[in-house]
Amino acid sequence: MSGEILLLAGPNLNLLGERSPEIYGTTTLLEHVGRFRALASAAGFSVRDLQSNFEGDLIEAVHAARGTCVAIVLNAGALTHTSWALRDALATFDGVKIEVHLSSPAAREPFRHVSTLAGVVNGSIAGFGALSYDLAFEAVRRILDAS
Ligand code: DQA
Repeated sequence: MSGEILLLAGPNLNLLGERSPEIYGTTTLLEHVGRFRALASAAGFSVRDLQSNFEGDLIEAVHAARGTCVAIVLNAGALTHTSWALRDALATFDGVKIEVHLSSPAAREPFRHVSTLAGVVNGSIAGFGALSYDLAFEAVRRILDAS
């Protein structure tokens, strides 16, 4: 298997490492991306990564992935709970789509219990801290292998 994977990170995830470490851990986004890239490249994939605090940037990255990427792995941060526009963008992408969270939104405040993205992704991996990213890559690899 080969191809490019878009790894997206939404608002406030640039602060990982210092933001609520008791919830999100001490690993920085750079470290999560580096680990994901290493796993992906060992399996023959390349990774395009973007973090943005702006919804429109994430939507445009999804558009650019259409026809060029085989999968999107995204931690949309709080946009997960609010963004119908990001959901609509994801719905236009034909490849594999995995929603990732470091924490378990279902076990937190009620406003985090809704995911606008859930209906358009293959599945969601949440609550495993840094391991969530490893598991997301594994999900992409296996789904593509099986297809
Ligand atoms: C998060 C969970 C979201 O509810 C929150 O807004 C984030 C991070 C996670 O990785 O656990 O920013 O997506």
